[in-house]
Amino acid sequence: MKKTTKLLTVTLAMVMAACTLTACGGGASEGNTITFGTNAEFPPFEYVTSNGVIGEYDGIDMAIAKQIAESNGMTAAVENMEFDSLLVALQNGQIDAVIAGMTATDERRETVDFSTTYYTATQVMIVKEDSDIAAATDMADKKICVVQGYTGEICVQNMGYSYEAFKKGTEAVLELVNGKCDVVVIDSATAQKYVGDNEGLKIVEDPSAFESEEYAIAVQKGNTELLDKINSSIDKMLADGTVNELAVKYTEEATAE
Ligand code: ARG
Repeated sequence: MKKTTKLLTVTLAMVMAACTLTACGGGASEGNTITFGTNAEFPPFEYVTSNGVIGEYDGIDMAIAKQIAESNGMTAAVENMEFDSLLVALQNGQIDAVIAGMTATDERRETVDFSTTYYTATQVMIVKEDSDIAAATDMADKKICVVQGYTGEICVQNMGYSYEAFKKGTEAVLELVNGKCDVVVIDSATAQKYVGDNEGLKIVEDPSAFESEEYAIAVQKGNTELLDKINSSIDKMLADGTVNELAVKYTEEATAE
């Protein structure tokens, strides 16, 4: 290897090492930034738009993330990735926290710590307006669509029904709109948004079949320093009505669109 090439290689290696240390080009951040991982395919909680509250990202969660960072004198950054990758990225230290309308389940609690609950949701069924599905048990002989890795998938799995899993909620809903499936099982507020966006759909609830789900922010196990910051901000935003206001604001926007 020639000397110049070698020097270049060494320099490159050093730059790359510096990058991993300071997290340039994405990654969990040191110091003054909280890097939140999300999957921006989940309106009204997170979606991509031209002018969001954090760069191109907007929604209830994004506004909450921004306030958490700011109330701690920090800046919020967002890394958008597949929902299934979020907890792995958190464990790898690629991101500092996950805010993604994520339900705090016992299974997830085995690998990460969750903040205080900031929103309560439930799974619902989206069907065609003329559907005869009125309860979860009516799905038994129907074609069911879910989104991969969402709690909706786990629910349908636990009911013992077969289903097809899609990468995005919009894909599952398109399948329903096109008559290729009979029902989509997904979180309530997101379902509302999809029903508002598409003609001829309605929501069917079944509280006896679907338990309530609590959305919370995930951090690495044992990261109490960050968790304390997040919790004190959430507590404040719950107490002064900020979370409620954001939920109303983004739900109205979602249905007005
Ligand atoms: N609440 C569901 C879950 O925790 C769905 C969350 C989907 N969130 C998203 N940003 N795509 O599994």
